[in-house]
Amino acid sequence: MTKKILTRKKEHLQIANDEPIHFHELTTGFEDYHFVHNALPEIDLKDVNIKANFLGYELQSPLMISSISGGEDESKQLNRDLARAANQSGIALSLGSIRPALENPECIGSYQIARKEAPNIPIIANIGASQLVKEYKSKQLSKILKQIDVNAISIHLNPLQEALQPEGEPHFKGVSRAIEILRETLPYPVIVKEVGFGLSLDAIKRLQKMGIQWVDVAGSGGTSWSRIEHHRMKSQNKKDIATQFFEWGIPTVESIQNAIKVKQMKIIASGGIDTGLKFAKAIALGAELAGAAIPFLQARNKGGVTRVCDLINVYSETLRIAMFCTGNQDLARFRGNKSIISYRKL
Ligand SMILES: Cc1cc2nc3c(=O)[nH]c(=O)nc-3n(C[C@H](O)[C@H](O)[C@H](O)COP(=O)(O)O)c2cc1C
Repeated sequence: MTKKILTRKKEHLQIANDEPIHFHELTTGFEDYHFVHNALPEIDLKDVNIKANFLGYELQSPLMISSISGGEDESKQLNRDLARAANQSGIALSLGSIRPALENPECIGSYQIARKEAPNIPIIANIGASQLVKEYKSKQLSKILKQIDVNAISIHLNPLQEALQPEGEPHFKGVSRAIEILRETLPYPVIVKEVGFGLSLDAIKRLQKMGIQWVDVAGSGGTSWSRIEHHRMKSQNKKDIATQFFEWGIPTVESIQNAIKVKQMKIIASGGIDTGLKFAKAIALGAELAGAAIPFLQARNKGGVTRVCDLINVYSETLRIAMFCTGNQDLARFRGNKSIISYRKL
């Protein structure tokens, strides 16, 4: 079983790096939002502060590397590099699903490396909702979270991916109760995320009823899991079915706006945030933090820790300059400020 999961994880990493797996028609929606340039900002660039608080840490920038990897040796090296870059840059790091470690204790080192390399940042573990329904209980998770030394756990909701994945487990009956129980019994904050198909208003409202305070919208417009799984399929008929879902999902901007309608819900924006300007727009639209997976994975594979740090710097400095050129000295004024960003379809 573990071997199968590890092979699958390896294939995901290879496809994500080598193949065109982005949405083609459906976009994130950021392209229709534009900052209102302020030619009289009345602040100095050097005074613009992009520091943000998250899970009791002060981040240098409201940015997170989204869940990607864990399990085998290759994942361990990837987690090592991403953790080094996140720690050097002072941003948050989310690890890939801990399922391999739950099934095979030998895999735990590939997650523990993150804290070893990154003592100063928030680290988040991750598990799939359908595995939560079927297998894992709070006590078991609690033990492993302690061993990996994380600050929170995120649960991924991926019904479409499970439905298309050749060895998928599309078991979502009882998922709400399973999340609720975990939230009540686990001594860690629980974040709920999608994997690139977004969250509807109804889903976010229901998550709030379960006591969830943080959602990572992981909207459509970036990485498409229908495309990734399509690459792994051998049967042409299965490929034809996956093709039907190439443009499925709720775009990232729409998902952020859904989450904003749910009062008190804290938002991590992700899904296709592959430029500094999209990052800045996500925060201006109201997200506490924004995350990205593929951009950091590809940066790391091209040029290791240095290239990831450089990319983080591009995101962060774009945010800083966007704040300067809209006249906002800190994130409290910039975040969710309707007067600085407008909808205009070009
Ligand atoms: C190779 C790869 C592995 C991933 N593994 C996980 C995972 O284990 N758990 C999870 O919640 N999301 C996983 N994701 C989804 C990402 O965390 C993210 O939600 C998604 O890729 C959308 O972000 P992006 O457009 O910036 O890539 C993975 C993504 C990639 C590319």
